[in-house]
Amino acid sequence: RSALYYAEVIRNNGIPLPKEDEFVYGEFPKNFSWSVASAAYQIEGAWREDGKGLSIWDQFAHTPLKISNDETADIACDSYHKIEEDLAILKGLKVTHYRFSISWPRVLPDGTTKLINEVGLNYYERLIDALLAADIKPQVTIYHWDLPQALQNTGGWENETIVQRFKEYAEVLFQRLGDKVKFWITLNEPYIIANLGYGYGTSAPGISFRPGRAPYTVGHNLIKAHAEVWHLYNTTYRPKQQGLISITINSDWAEPRNPDKQEDIDAARRYVQFYGGWFAHPIFKNGDYNEVMKRRIRERSLAQGLNESRLPEFTESEKQRIKGTFDYFGFNHYTTILASNLNYAAGVSSYDSDRGVASITDRSWLGSGSFWLKVTPFGFRKILRWIKEEYNNPPIYVTENGISERGYTGLNDTWRMHYYKSYINEALKAVVLDGVDLRGYTAWSLMDNFEWATGFAERFGLHYTNYTDPALPRIPKESAKYYSSIIQCNGFPD
Ligand code: NOJ
Repeated sequence: RSALYYAEVIRNNGIPLPKEDEFVYGEFPKNFSWSVASAAYQIEGAWREDGKGLSIWDQFAHTPLKISNDETADIACDSYHKIEEDLAILKGLKVTHYRFSISWPRVLPDGTTKLINEVGLNYYERLIDALLAADIKPQVTIYHWDLPQALQNTGGWENETIVQRFKEYAEVLFQRLGDKVKFWITLNEPYIIANLGYGYGTSAPGISFRPGRAPYTVGHNLIKAHAEVWHLYNTTYRPKQQGLISITINSDWAEPRNPDKQEDIDAARRYVQFYGGWFAHPIFKNGDYNEVMKRRIRERSLAQGLNESRLPEFTESEKQRIKGTFDYFGFNHYTTILASNLNYAAGVSSYDSDRGVASITDRSWLGSGSFWLKVTPFGFRKILRWIKEEYNNPPIYVTENGISERGYTGLNDTWRMHYYKSYINEALKAVVLDGVDLRGYTAWSLMDNFEWATGFAERFGLHYTNYTDPALPRIPKESAKYYSSIIQCNGFPD
């Protein structure tokens, strides 16, 4: 045991550290990128200013009973008018990168290239120029959930024509911003779009009446849309613009509830394959869905008297087109669950019944302001290693990781410092002990913002946003200084 270990034990009130809780000192690789993230609908406000079209989130939030307290992001953090304020806090963090998203309907009000809204586009040009002048590199998410409502009116992600629309939209961004943006993310969290948007209906567009098929159809079109945009960039824009482009996939990690029970071990594996694996397998492996999903959904579909699986199939040429459409593995991660097997009645047809997993959490795990988020740093290292092993060691960028509190709890957010310390330390272990090719890390989020269906109550920010002051000041929490110190040390040097 090193002296450093004993120092940690002393800090831990003399209690020996369980092996997985041991803190490791060390630095991240040179040129590691340190980023912080936001998304257009969650921060921009200006929901119908300067020619912006409406998005499915404008529509959803304005529908009674969809969001806690019927809040909307009409104003949110007003980032559309606060480039300088946002830049100031970014500089304060000393991040090397800033991840933000572009609002599709702000650039293309009706979703198509019939009309390009120059004023909207100009906001992003000014933001990008300001970032570059401050030596902060932009990481741009092309789609972070705010689909133009006009496109939802023709079926949204359920309608395959969306693939072409998405490609045309992305091409406008490559043409107009591609000289300055060298890091693109096609889609943020396809799992959430498909399952919450078109399955449970708790996210926009709030479709929930045909959960047994719609999420899979949506997932199918999302994968194709991603692949088309990757190819477009790869063949037409990469030669000149020389950037990276990929997708951001989110996944919880799952441990078997009872580690001695094969059934639970299988359930935990299935949980991850149905989650991140749903999208990662086609893109990062062989162009097709994983076997677990294919088998389970087919079996249940046939038992329900259908003559084919509710999970659509890719043609051979589609598989070839999808396979390998990545430059890195973009990964959002927050938490872990305990999985056990759960057999649903044969007639039930939904994503959950296809997956057949009951998920619970351990009472000893610390919670957060979000019911689904428990502090489980050990799972971060495990899932990073799982990605390495499952997908042949791709370069990974963590594009989100963070924790929430509810309401105003003061600026001394010890829970967030603890979260970042332990999660980033697990990431360090993944790099130095497991050989994971991790290239970057991103904290969610730059400042408190509109947390989708739960509105403003759940605060993920490194900066406190004071919504009661019309100037919407962003005030650093203690964790902002702490995260900045990790950045400046490039980890936890000895
Ligand atoms: C995932 C999403 O990408 C982001 O928009 C959201 O706010 C955070 N996770 C926290 O839930």
